[in-house]
Amino acid sequence: MAGSHASVGGIVAAGGVGERLGGELPKALREVGGASLVTRAVRALLDGGVTDIVVAAPGAHLDAVRAAVRPVAFPAGGSVTVVEGGVTRQDSVRCALQALGPRVEFVLVHDAARALAPAGLVEDVIAALTGGADAVVPVVPVTDTVKEVDGGLVGRTVDRSRLYAVQTPQGFRRQVLAAAHAAAASSDVTDDAGLVEALGVAVHTVPGLPEAFKVTRPIDLVLANALLAATPVDV
Ligand code: C5P
Repeated sequence: MAGSHASVGGIVAAGGVGERLGGELPKALREVGGASLVTRAVRALLDGGVTDIVVAAPGAHLDAVRAAVRPVAFPAGGSVTVVEGGVTRQDSVRCALQALGPRVEFVLVHDAARALAPAGLVEDVIAALTGGADAVVPVVPVTDTVKEVDGGLVGRTVDRSRLYAVQTPQGFRRQVLAAAHAAAASSDVTDDAGLVEALGVAVHTVPGLPEAFKVTRPIDLVLANALLAATPVDV
């Protein structure tokens, strides 16, 4: 792809410490199937058609994250850059947004922790953007019964028929995402679509996939390793 053409950029949020996962390394550097979560997340974006990627990493681990993404082979004209993230996920995404190249027209924001998101999901998000959506998120129906709990007591049962869990990659027209971050009041919104919704922009949905689950707790590493043993994914 020629350098001046519009392209699909990607932001990988990898700046978290992963408290709920435990261990000494930040979550993005934990390995599943012999490769780190951040390596696999970058690979998934690239395989789905994202060419310019910025990774937001913990400040103390920039070199390690650079080393982790180095083996991913980028096509001519593509690039991966590692920048220091921030205190919250929202801060990390904003730092990465500032480092995206000028030719990027659409941006996919992806959690390093959703390292096994299939390339097909990335393609579906890009297709929704190029089809005209300003913002798009993958969603999966909530399967558990959901209740509000206060002080250990159930307050009420919530009707789950309209509830969906939201995954990444989330896709945006670049100007829309930049405007949403510039306008954001709170500094700890847990997804980017939430900021875009606050601007009154319509957020479209595509079907999410179970493989795009977020590695959060130790049992999720077991699940990720089992999935990769069953269906290996090269990096
Ligand atoms: O903590 P949680 O799993 O919800 O984080 C979601 C994603 O956001 C992770 O990939 C994590 O590395 C990233 N994150 C970040 N900067 C932070 C906190 C979290 O990029 N300050």
